[in-house]
Amino acid sequence: MSESTHSASPSSSAETGERTKKNLSLWPISFLISLVLPVVLGALIYQLDTFDPAPYPAHELTQKKPVIVPKRNAHMLKGAENIGAGQLLAPEDIAFDPKAGVIYTGCVDGWIKRVTVNESAADSVVESWINTGGRPLGLVCGHHGEVIIADGDKGLLNATANGVIHLLSDEANGVKFRLTDGVDIAEDGIVYFTDASYKYSFNEFAWDFFEGRPFGRLLSYDPSTKETKVLVQDLYFANGVAVSPDQNFVIFCETPMTRCKRYYINGERKGSVDIFVENLPGMPDNIRYDGEGQYWIALSTEVTYAWELAQRYPFIRKIMAIMEKYVGRPHVEKNGGALAVDLDGKPVAHYYQHDLSLISGVNKIGDHIYLGSVDKPYIIRLNIKQNPAVSSTA
Ligand SMILES: *[C@@H]1O[C@H](CO)[C@@H](O)[C@H](O)[C@H]1NC(C)=O
Ligand SMILES: *[C@@H]1O[C@H](CO)[C@@H](O)[C@H](O)[C@H]1NC(C)=O
Repeated sequence: MSESTHSASPSSSAETGERTKKNLSLWPISFLISLVLPVVLGALIYQLDTFDPAPYPAHELTQKKPVIVPKRNAHMLKGAENIGAGQLLAPEDIAFDPKAGVIYTGCVDGWIKRVTVNESAADSVVESWINTGGRPLGLVCGHHGEVIIADGDKGLLNATANGVIHLLSDEANGVKFRLTDGVDIAEDGIVYFTDASYKYSFNEFAWDFFEGRPFGRLLSYDPSTKETKVLVQDLYFANGVAVSPDQNFVIFCETPMTRCKRYYINGERKGSVDIFVENLPGMPDNIRYDGEGQYWIALSTEVTYAWELAQRYPFIRKIMAIMEKYVGRPHVEKNGGALAVDLDGKPVAHYYQHDLSLISGVNKIGDHIYLGSVDKPYIIRLNIKQNPAVSSTA
């Protein structure tokens, strides 16, 4: 490039002119090699690859602008503390046992860690409690001192107070779970949980997004009958689960669709489904009720323009899948964080930051929110009384 610019100048020597001529005569070949060949190869790989993404149904793609959240803190790491740095590898969900004052979180190495929280982040004590041998994701404290685990690899597990692990369920209607993900328990003891995908495992979750078919299910497990029921099927990556405080419905998040739905378990609407909150300012992971009138939704990333296009056009998702296979996935996630919504699903406050991504679980304990992330080796804690979200117009 620079050479040809040179030779175009009148002061260029005969020698440079000669070189330019040679370069020019080689130009078609180098063009062929550097540009046409990769395109042809790429097209060939595209043709030969059997991965077959589906178009999302048109009614699922009525993309609207993300909801306006009245209060924001766009620099949530300012004033935040890290807990258990280096001892909590990719802590996904955060369950709290108020009686013992401990947090349970599931790590990428299969450990469920018990964290005794302290006013001083540095004095918080991390203990390796039990190892599931799988990938513990959603967690909830049961009614008998047990911790119920949605384990991505193993299914729904019961870890008793003395640390013995039992399998509760790993299939429904003859279809085995592949990515058991979120869990909560109702006052009557029924466990509600999701299998994000019966086709792709935790490490393959991106493929589920690329394929664009609804392999997720909302399920229930009744400890008195040991029966597992499918409540809702054909969900797009069914993720976090929260039972409403009045015990009337169960909320579940569909990550790529940036929404949470509501399945009624009591009352006259029992058995029906509607939208709880949609057009979220990011992709939802776990959701948890704080006992004070708000649900907290972990947002793993904002929705990028590239993803909006990909959702619309299956061929883009196929290219992304091929890239994932041969090159790897670029890190495009940003503006992850936490969203508080009220009992009716109306957004209240949004905590996030540009360089924060893959936030997977949020739990409000006292004045703090505790955030888990599948991207970090610690739990993030923020005192939201001292670092509140404020009105956007303020
Ligand atoms: C916090 O940790 C310090 C030092 O280990 C301890 O003395 C204190 O009792 C702890 N506070 C709470 C509330 O557990
Ligand atoms: C978990 O196991 C304990 C001990 O056997 C039992 O008391 C509890 O009910 C079980 N929980 C569920 C949800 O099955």
